[in-house]
Amino acid sequence: MRTKIVAGNWKMNKNLQETEALLTELSAKLPDTNATVIVAPTFVNLQAAQTALGSSTIKVAAQNMHFAESGAYTGEISADMLLSLDIDTVILGHSERRAYFGEDDELLAKKVNTAIEKGLKTIFCFGEELEDRKSDKHFDVVESQLKNALFSLDASAWKNIVLAYEPVWAIGTGETASPEQAQEMHAFIRKTISDAFGAAVADEVSILYGGSVKPGNAGEIFGKPDVDGGLIGGASLVADDFVAIIAAI
Ligand code: G3P
Repeated sequence: MRTKIVAGNWKMNKNLQETEALLTELSAKLPDTNATVIVAPTFVNLQAAQTALGSSTIKVAAQNMHFAESGAYTGEISADMLLSLDIDTVILGHSERRAYFGEDDELLAKKVNTAIEKGLKTIFCFGEELEDRKSDKHFDVVESQLKNALFSLDASAWKNIVLAYEPVWAIGTGETASPEQAQEMHAFIRKTISDAFGAAVADEVSILYGGSVKPGNAGEIFGKPDVDGGLIGGASLVADDFVAIIAAI
């Protein structure tokens, strides 16, 4: 049975005090759920987040990491540094990392390989641009992103991979993919994995949708058979909205 996951990608938001306040409120309001709930604050607030969450079941993830063990990479964070904080989950390949920091499939493959080698669970993000979809190339783009970054992995590595399909045109825009669009792409993604690694692997991979998920649309999107949860941006920064989205899965 695939794991249902609702993860909040906080991006570059919430200082120390705001992180503590939001997580204290979120812990108090967390509904009963079988889903795994994850928050991804900024690096500087990871430990404070864990402290604020205390014995809560909410997990803390990092938003990125470097592929190198250590070294002259000013400003970067290694897998071992995350593990030293008991952080065992990392988001990789977010479209903002690709767009603003030049992260391409080759670099992301290195990051994924390091994360897997270190035993980190990886939430791998990918998705097409609006012009790709308008020119009916969205399936080709998504297939290419998956194959270039993930298909050199052993089948056994997929137990530590969570996929997050995030059409770039839906991120932060309010232009959410329809439940039918999400299901169509998620089914394509699962078949692509099945064709390469077998149905047993594909059936176990959690595929999250991300891109303007809100309390008003989460239930219908999450109700689709190949949607296993969501990667939430803006709505994860407001406790009541994130709680409503969690309650919808
Ligand atoms: O990683 C999730 C994020 O890209 C989605 O952002 O604000 O559209 O929910 P948002």
